[in-house]
Amino acid sequence: MSRTPWWQSAVGYQVYPRSFCDSNGDGVGDIPGIVSKLDHLADLGIGFVWLSPVYASPMADNGYDISDYDAIAPVFGTMDDMDRLIAEARARDIGIVMDLVVNHTSDEHAWFQAARSSLVDPKRDWYIWRDPDSDGGPPDDQQSVFGGPAWTLDPVSGQYYFHLFNRKQPDLNWENPEVRAEIWAMMNRWFDRGIAGFRMDVIDLIGKDIDAEITTNGPHLHDYIQEMHRETLAGRDVVTVGEAWSAGPDDALLYTGRDRGELSMVFQFSHVLQGWDPEFGKWRARPRDLVGLKRLFNAWQLALAEDGWNSLFWSNHDLPRAVSKYGDDSPAWRRRSARALATVLHLMKGTPYIYQGEEIGMTNTAFARVEDFDDVEIRTNFPIQTARGLGADAFLAGANANGRDNARTPMQWDARAHAGFTSGTPWLPVNPTFDKINAAADRADPEGVFRHYKALISLRNKLDIVIDGRFVPLAEDDPNVWAYVRELGTRRLTMVANLTSAPVAFSIPTEGAVTGTCLITTATPRDRLRGKLDLAPWEAVAVLGTT
Ligand code: NOJ
Repeated sequence: MSRTPWWQSAVGYQVYPRSFCDSNGDGVGDIPGIVSKLDHLADLGIGFVWLSPVYASPMADNGYDISDYDAIAPVFGTMDDMDRLIAEARARDIGIVMDLVVNHTSDEHAWFQAARSSLVDPKRDWYIWRDPDSDGGPPDDQQSVFGGPAWTLDPVSGQYYFHLFNRKQPDLNWENPEVRAEIWAMMNRWFDRGIAGFRMDVIDLIGKDIDAEITTNGPHLHDYIQEMHRETLAGRDVVTVGEAWSAGPDDALLYTGRDRGELSMVFQFSHVLQGWDPEFGKWRARPRDLVGLKRLFNAWQLALAEDGWNSLFWSNHDLPRAVSKYGDDSPAWRRRSARALATVLHLMKGTPYIYQGEEIGMTNTAFARVEDFDDVEIRTNFPIQTARGLGADAFLAGANANGRDNARTPMQWDARAHAGFTSGTPWLPVNPTFDKINAAADRADPEGVFRHYKALISLRNKLDIVIDGRFVPLAEDDPNVWAYVRELGTRRLTMVANLTSAPVAFSIPTEGAVTGTCLITTATPRDRLRGKLDLAPWEAVAVLGTT
C-alpha cells in the first residue's frame, strides 16, 4: 500500500496578494501583510497556500504578466520577505505554492526585450512571430482570451507576435528547447528556496500548434509536462495543480493518472462554464442550475474514482464569490448558505481549495458603472460585447455577477476603516458590507462561517473516509437537494444538503440511509438520515455510521 500523499489530505487556501493584507499603507497588499495573517490560516487548519503571482511585473494583469521570475515586485516586498514567508508558513505546517505563469511573460521581460530587438537576436525564437497577412493585417483570425486579436504588430521588425491574453503578455515559444530548459531551471531554483509546489497558470495552452490554430490541448502538451516532471518534479514531495479550462474527466486522467508522471491534480472548470451563456459567455448572467451542477461534479467524482485526483473549488481570483454565485447572500441566509456550500464541497473526494474571504462568507460587490471596474478583462470586453449586441446594462449585470473584480476587493478583516486591510487608500474599494461581514465579526459569531470551515478541515484531517471513501451520488435529479455517500470498508458517511432558501421534504434513497454520529451540520444536529426528511433552508448535514 502506498502512503497517501500529503496533498490528498490537505486543504489549499488561495491568497491574492494584492487584496489580502497591506502592511505599509500603500493600498496594495504585500508579503509582510500575508506573514502577519498566517495565524488566521493556521487556525483555519489549511495545509498549503496557493499564492497568486508576487514576481516582478508591470501589473498589466495584476502579476500574471511576469518581467522577472527571480525577483519580487517591490509593491509586494523583497526576496527576504518571501524567504520569511516560506519559513514562517513552514513553522506552522503550511506549504507555500507559487503560481507558475509560463504560457507567456510580460513584454517587459528581458527575454522579450531581447527577442524584439532584432530578427536575428538569439532569443527571437523564444516567442512566436509571424509575417503579416498579404493585406498587412494579422497572420490569421485567432482571438485572445481577453477579447480582440491574438496578434500584435511589432513596428520594429514588421512582424506580429502572438499573445493569448493581453498584448503585454506575449506567449513563449514552447517548441524551443532552450525556453523549456530555462523554465525547468527557474522552477528548480524556487523548489530549492523551499516552496511546496506550483499552481500552473493555463497549463493546457503550452502545447499549442499555432499554424494549425490549435491552442488548448495541443499536440505537445503532455510531452512537455512529462519533460517538466522529469526535469523538476521527480523525487520532490511537492504538489502541482494545473489550471486547465479545457479539461474534461478524460483529459484529467492524462494529467493526473498515477503512472503518467505529470501533475497531482488540475483545476477543472466545467461547473463554471456551465453557468455561462452560450452566446455571451460570462458577460450574460444566468441563474444557477443545481441539477446541472450536481451532474458535473458527480461525473468528475466517478471518472476519477480509481485513478487521478480531483481538485474541489467554488471560487478563485477569476470567479465570483461562492456565496453570491451559488448560495443566497441576503442577510437572512448568507452565513448558513455559505456553510452549506462548504459542506457539500469539502466532503467530496479531492483536495478542496478556499479562496480568501470565502471562509468568512464574503460576497460579491455591486459596481455601479463599467468605469468602476479595474480588471483588464472587463475593460477589454465592454466595447467588444456591446458591439456584438449585448446592451450596456446587461454587460454591467454580467460583470457584476461573474466578473473577476468581485473576488479582488480587499479581504475584510475587521470593522475599522477599509476593513483593516490598509491604512491607506485601497487599490480597489472595499466591499461596503465590511462593517458586518469581516473576519473579526465572523470568528466571534456562533453561526459564523469560519468555524464551520475549520470543523470541515479537521474532519478531513481526522477521517480517512473523507479522503479515500468511495463516492456514490444520490438523487441527482432532485432540483433542491445535493446528496451523496462516501463509503470505506463497512463505514458510510452520508451528506445531505438543501441548497435553497425554503424548507424542502426529501426522501433519502435506501443506499444513502445511515444512523450514527452527526459529524457536522448547518442546522439542528441529526444522527439519522433515513426515510423522509424535512430539511430546513440551507440545512446541510453529514452523518457517519455503518452500511
Ligand atoms: C489565468 C489566471 O488565473 C488569470 O488571472 C490570468 O489573467 C490568466 N491566466 C493569464 O495569465
